[in-house]
Amino acid sequence: MSMQSFIRRTAFRMDPEKAHETALRALQAGGPLLVPAKGWFDKADASVHQHLMGLDFRAPVGLAAGYDKYGRAVRAWGRLGFGFAEIGTVTARPQDGNPRPRLFRLVDDEAIINRMGFNNDGAAITARRIAEARGGNGAGIPVAVNIGKSKVAPLDEAAADHLVSYRLLRGVADFVVVNVSSPNTPGLRELQDRDHLTAILGALRDEDASMRARDGRVPMPFLVKLAPDLPDAQIEDAVDLAGELGLAGVVLTNTTIARDGLLKNPADPAAGEQGGLSGPPVRARANEATRVAARRAAGSGLVIIGVGGIMDANDAWDRIASGASLVEVWTGMIYRGPGIARDITQGLVDRMRREGVGHISELVGSALSGGG
Ligand SMILES: Cc1cc2nc3c(=O)[nH]c(=O)nc-3n(C[C@H](O)[C@H](O)[C@H](O)COP(=O)(O)O)c2cc1C
Repeated sequence: MSMQSFIRRTAFRMDPEKAHETALRALQAGGPLLVPAKGWFDKADASVHQHLMGLDFRAPVGLAAGYDKYGRAVRAWGRLGFGFAEIGTVTARPQDGNPRPRLFRLVDDEAIINRMGFNNDGAAITARRIAEARGGNGAGIPVAVNIGKSKVAPLDEAAADHLVSYRLLRGVADFVVVNVSSPNTPGLRELQDRDHLTAILGALRDEDASMRARDGRVPMPFLVKLAPDLPDAQIEDAVDLAGELGLAGVVLTNTTIARDGLLKNPADPAAGEQGGLSGPPVRARANEATRVAARRAAGSGLVIIGVGGIMDANDAWDRIASGASLVEVWTGMIYRGPGIARDITQGLVDRMRREGVGHISELVGSALSGGG
């Protein structure tokens, strides 16, 4: 048995959340010891280096939000070959999240259902932790902070609640993702409508402008993260709004509340659990949502980050061809292991060579042309 399958079998005997905590602790403790990835990134090839949103991405595969909610392993992600990492979701104040159990494996489908509910340490503590990790030789990759509404904040006070988090986290974030698409905070996804989005994102943009007037920093790139369950027209509207508000881009998608993507074992008892479904069952819809957003965003300069069901290099290839400049993984970390970012990047580089694609930017959106 390979080391990888031994670790997987051992982890899969543990409670899923305990196994996740154990993995994170190991990465936190061992992060500084992991072989620095610089050499690997160089080997990873200039063909996948991109300059987007004013930032350098040496590899296109990032860590999706919710894996390192507490910002505990910030130094580890670059060393594992991730080109960027999204920390959070972070809320204004610490939250416990929902009662356990709240994380379920659907092994036959390589899927997960979660209803974590934004358990996190709150913006002040998380900001301090990220700042410490980024001192010295730091993370070595762009670090995004994903922010979301506190459970106790009413929907119509969401903008003010996000501002509390933003003021605390601005100094440690290279870009900020606003998460209005988690299914596990009651009412949260209503924030995806035009009025709420305008209030929240407009307030963040204005706050950033007034902070910049004082400290002269570069503008913060803001992105909004959407649910796969939105109808196409609402995705298009959110993309239009992102352009109108001067955002940097859109992240698609979060987990789904649908269950029809379960292909292998719809009878899995875990399939009846409430929460958001991730992994291969969300792949087709996440890919389609990316296409819808990318078509709408054509020519706008908005960056699309694709996430949902990306387990290998071919999945990443398809998502990039659908218009994502960058991709992210969460569920793939559980089923394919911590080497997933390197494997995907290497697989992309190899396939680009085979197919005569000189640079990843030529692949971005290449499946859209002629599709109408
Ligand atoms: C256990 C778990 C927790 C998550 N927590 C968050 C979160 O806090 N914020 C967020 O924006 N997305 C969160 N997500 C969603 C992921 O970032 C990602 O959008 C989704 O899982 C689809 O990608 P995947 O199929 O690669 O897992 C979470 C996903 C899982 C499985």
